[in-house]
Amino acid sequence: MDGPSGSGKSSASRGVARALGLRYLDTGAMYRAVTWWMLQHGVEPADPAAIAARAADPVLDVGTDPDGPTIAVGGVDVAGPIRGPEVTGAVSAVSAVPEVRARLVAAQRAVIGSGDIVVEGRDIGTVVAPGAQVKVYLTASAEARAHRRTAELNGGAAGTTVEAQRAAMARRDALDSTRKADPLVRADDAVELDTTALTLDEVIAEILRLVKERT
Ligand code: DC
Repeated sequence: MDGPSGSGKSSASRGVARALGLRYLDTGAMYRAVTWWMLQHGVEPADPAAIAARAADPVLDVGTDPDGPTIAVGGVDVAGPIRGPEVTGAVSAVSAVPEVRARLVAAQRAVIGSGDIVVEGRDIGTVVAPGAQVKVYLTASAEARAHRRTAELNGGAAGTTVEAQRAAMARRDALDSTRKADPLVRADDAVELDTTALTLDEVIAEILRLVKERT
């Protein structure tokens, strides 16, 4: 499951995994965890050479239960801090560094292994799992995505506005889509699903229908 931020990937992926009794992997959380580690260790996100030099150092541990996905770096639970503004502001720069991507793609493939799993990210259908049985590319209007992200963040009492989110997301999407290494792009064989006018249950139902049709 690939798509830009706010397209509904996380909720839909978890819902589908739950409905099918499958594991779930949030690859964005892995890029965020590496970014958190770099910030903690004083590595400058805007310095690709410095990031590349430390790319192999963070030791990640990810849990794949869709009811309670976990993520730790060097034994520290970072599920909370990786959603904060510092990490969100730096993650596009860190995830654009090829050495970081190579390491995380290998780690993601190791987690995926040979079992069935729902994986969400930006390059899953194109790079991480090009042989996936079902590929979905989720989209939504910029307006809908900004509203969803704002509700999500204000639910966590972060205090933000739709306008601020729209601008932040546009900036991050531009970086994620134009980077040289594995940019966000729809795989040729992915089914594109626009979630703007759909409820979460409708999105999940549509994906379950696709899974049934293709497997
Ligand atoms: O899905 P998310 O917003 O938590 O992802 C955070 C960042 O990580 C996103 O801006 C781009 C990067 N990312 C990536 O480059 N490749 C992935 N497979 C997943 C996320």
